[in-house]
Amino acid sequence: MSYFEHVTEAADWLRGHGCAGADVAIVLGSGLGDFANGVGDARSIPYTDIPHWPASSVIGHAGTLVCGTVAGRRVLALSGRVHVYEGHDLHTVTFAMRVLGRLGVPRVVLTNAAGGISPNCSRGALMVIDDHINLMGHNPLVGANDERFGVRFPDMTHVYSPKLRAMADDTARALELPLQHGVYVAVLGPSYETPAEIRAFRRLGADAVGMSTAPEAIVARHMGMEVLGISCISNAAAGVFPEPLLHEEVMATTQQVKGQFIALLEGIVGRL
Ligand code: HPA
Repeated sequence: MSYFEHVTEAADWLRGHGCAGADVAIVLGSGLGDFANGVGDARSIPYTDIPHWPASSVIGHAGTLVCGTVAGRRVLALSGRVHVYEGHDLHTVTFAMRVLGRLGVPRVVLTNAAGGISPNCSRGALMVIDDHINLMGHNPLVGANDERFGVRFPDMTHVYSPKLRAMADDTARALELPLQHGVYVAVLGPSYETPAEIRAFRRLGADAVGMSTAPEAIVARHMGMEVLGISCISNAAAGVFPEPLLHEEVMATTQQVKGQFIALLEGIVGRL
């Protein structure tokens, strides 16, 4: 069976389980899965039930797809994603995006926990991703191009939809939530960066650093989906402060910020 057929089988399976016709899909990053608890008329599907769907092994990633409604919109909430650093290739990492595209989901919100590089991205801040720098050393579109997904050389001028970014700002203003904007640099991980790497990324124009999102965004754009990216700044990046980085700090911050994060997401979904 080809990759396309696997994707199609998973999409058909989800259609058969009442998950068609979503207005938006939301990928919930590390520690941000609680958004899924607020989904109404929820149908919870473990990733392991969906044909060919990869399951994540990272702590803080539940591995559940929830279909239902939020603020009157039909949503698919993906709690948990697989990362390249777990040893998966990029076709596996972006399998979920491909399925969403085949399901006809028109837009996707990609969220993540990220290290803050610029001063306005301090711990606990929420940042709209204006653009990314892909330093993972790989691209999910490498290999024979399947035209049924998209063109060989897709444009990446507006990966993150200007319209959705403006909608995020309007929502934050209405909720009186501070919301930053910046460039996300995607790295492979899983080791955190060195202070020298963070200094280099700062000079390259990056505001936040993380180990996901860019491959999914590229694949979503390849299929013509609209993308919004939101980072929860879970820690200051390496070398910004003298203390070492701990995954526990990442999880603790997302727990502290999740109320704001959920309010922002629900507000955005309500405006779609
Ligand atoms: N670096 C890379 N990825 C991350 C970080 C970080 O500091 N924090 C959360 N994800």
